Amino acid sequence: MNILVLNGPNLNFLGKREPEIYGNKTYTQLENYCKDFEKEFNLSIDVKQSNLEGILIDILQYADSKYDGVLLNAGAFTHYSYALYDCIKSLHIPVVEIHLSDIMNREDFRKTSVIKDACIDSVFGFGFESYKIGLQSLLERTQGK
Ligand code: DQA
Repeated sequence: MNILVLNGPNLNFLGKREPEIYGNKTYTQLENYCKDFEKEFNLSIDVKQSNLEGILIDILQYADSKYDGVLLNAGAFTHYSYALYDCIKSLHIPVVEIHLSDIMNREDFRKTSVIKDACIDSVFGFGFESYKIGLQSLLERTQGK
């Protein structure tokens, strides 16, 4: 299985941005954390990041024929990008929505995810662990398909 971990805007600033919310670990550490899933789950993982909505869409469209599933942390685009929603809806591979922080217990605007209904599951509030829980969910939900 080939899995894509795709991170959106400002996630490259992990370790520098609001450590009280996102922790002290850097984006490189997050990449390494996700790469370690390869051994643990016996699959192949690519990790990509962009701050640009259009590039995230380009990557997702490309992923449709190259990967078996996506873990997507769309950052703030989660809350208002109908373009990302449309894109995820058009894909033939499953996408799990991921967030490091607990988006339901922060500012009101974060409580709405416009991409949620296009994704097979949403995992938030567990820091780096959100990605592992998301991968487990993706594997469970796609088993035998
Ligand atoms: C985030 C939550 C979003 O609301 C925020 O805009 C981010 C990061 C998270 O991982 O907790 O950039 O997706």
